[in-house]
Amino acid sequence: MHSHKDICIINLPKIEDPRGNLSFIEEKKHIPFKIERAYWIYDVPGGQMRGGHAFKKQEEFIIALSGSFIILVDDGKEQKRFTLNRSYNGLYIPAGLWRQMENFSTNSLAMVLSSTHYSEDDYIREYSDFMKFKEL
Ligand code: TYD
Repeated sequence: MHSHKDICIINLPKIEDPRGNLSFIEEKKHIPFKIERAYWIYDVPGGQMRGGHAFKKQEEFIIALSGSFIILVDDGKEQKRFTLNRSYNGLYIPAGLWRQMENFSTNSLAMVLSSTHYSEDDYIREYSDFMKFKEL
């Protein structure tokens, strides 16, 4: 079962150029999984939160392509807080951790790269179910 020690901010390559900077990501190289899906969260009204669930199998990598937000990650014992505010940084989150995204800045854009296709069966949406899952 994963705990906080597996979570990490990954610095992606940044090619600086007077014409504008460029960053990129390659599956199984900069992140430990194969990318099966990408989705993005945008137009988040002030004060709103996203996430607030765990995944049984899905691993993910979250990048603040634009703006900033915070991610709270909970392994059932303690909560950690990560700020994403650079286009060349991302947070790797293994499966089995509760996570919530909040404090979205105006015009922020959160890109989530996922190791699985969308499956509602993979979600744990109740915190009490998450605690039971951690005990298995
Ligand atoms: P959800 O993952 O619950 O959003 P949050 O970012 O707040 O955790 O997804 C919101 C809705 O969008 C939910 O009804 C499922 C749907 N959805 C898809 O159909 N495909 C996807 O890839 C994702 C991420 C969500």
